[in-house]
Amino acid sequence: MEKFKVWGPSRLIGEVPISGAKNAALPIFCASLLTSEPVKIFNVPDLKDVSTMFALLRKLGVEIEVDKRNKFCEIEAKALSSTEASYDLVKTMRASILVLGPLLAKHREAKVSLPGGCAIGQRPVDQHIKGLRLMGAEIIIENGYIKAKTKKLVGAKITSDVVTVTGTENLMMAACLAEGKTVIENAAQEPEIVDLANLLRSMGANISGDGTKKIEIIGQQTLKGASHKIIFDRIEAGTFSCAVAACGGDVFLNGASREPMKIILEKLRECGGEISEEKSGIRIKFFGRPSSVSFQTSPFPGFATDMQAQFMAVNSVAQGTAIIKESIFENRFMHVQEMLRLGAKISVKGNTSMVTGVDSLRGAKVMATDLRASAGLVISAMAAQGDSVIDRIYHLDRGYEKMDVKLNALGASVERIKN
Ligand code: UD1
Repeated sequence: MEKFKVWGPSRLIGEVPISGAKNAALPIFCASLLTSEPVKIFNVPDLKDVSTMFALLRKLGVEIEVDKRNKFCEIEAKALSSTEASYDLVKTMRASILVLGPLLAKHREAKVSLPGGCAIGQRPVDQHIKGLRLMGAEIIIENGYIKAKTKKLVGAKITSDVVTVTGTENLMMAACLAEGKTVIENAAQEPEIVDLANLLRSMGANISGDGTKKIEIIGQQTLKGASHKIIFDRIEAGTFSCAVAACGGDVFLNGASREPMKIILEKLRECGGEISEEKSGIRIKFFGRPSSVSFQTSPFPGFATDMQAQFMAVNSVAQGTAIIKESIFENRFMHVQEMLRLGAKISVKGNTSMVTGVDSLRGAKVMATDLRASAGLVISAMAAQGDSVIDRIYHLDRGYEKMDVKLNALGASVERIKN
């Protein structure tokens, strides 16, 4: 297993290119299943989750050409050889569930492994299933698989019991080829949902209301091929911003823009950051120790759970005490134990943690437990005095493109140790 060796403390100066958003790319690749024509996708991030999704789609018989140098891919789902997503792939990436809606809509059947729980929480998919059933799908759960079939999907009025990002995306994609009108209430409003809707519209779908709590879709007989550029990764941009907050420095996030990052930027300002939006990106400056910030995670436009660990890293070296409440996932404080090893002062009670900033952290050996927890640990290690080793960095590679290379270009000292 690969590790990062990090020498701290660092100060970050320069410019970092922000990649295409992982959470936009994955549903967009699956949307290609809705047409037999080629879909051309630009600004594709080079990530482990992206190659896992390509492997899954190829197993279904989808043809994919990838040009990594130009961050481009072309996906053609002309003739499928299978409509099954096996446990082996789904267990490594929960977003594999995103093939369910498109397969069912276009091919009238799908067999997708139940994702099961994961480190950060239970993560059921009952809302995906409920919505598809309302659209006329017959779904049974058998031997760990969701087995779905339909004669035809029909539009329905669906009110989601919880706000779910991939659930909203699955239903949106299915509704594009259903007969009649679908209304999704209590829909997720993330920018990645809007990006998916933009692609679907260029494929000929009739969607309105994306980015709000109520999305309306009028189903079409067929969809066509399209070209689309994936939006920037607001979580990657937020992660680099937190690194600047914890370490100090002046970094230009090339490709980022304010709107999708609004609350992240507000919190960074509260921490004492100087933030300016420029034509092609956002500049973040931190001089001196940051101030602590309290927050509670919630669905967009609230504070993203995917930024919680990184802001905890900032708070652990900030002036003051912060209260952090995690309201989306029940077990998303696993990085706390590891941050304690670096000398942080954090206590946890239920879904709330209290972080009192210390003058300085000290390097230590720590273990990454999930994608965003890893990012929090890298930030803490860069802010700490001395060297740290972060084990199980494969979690980080799932969702960050060459993070070590990007950080080193900003003046950090991060070495990837291959076993
Ligand atoms: C997506 C993101 C992930 C992010 C999360 C929350 C992708 C590929 N992943 O994950 O990075 O952390 O949103 O912003 O976009 N729930 C149910 N029933 C369901 C579905 C969800 O109870 O059928 C619950 C979950 O357990 C969780 C909450 O709803 O407590 C939100 O989960 P959801 O938005 O579905 O997360 P994902 O779409 O899996």
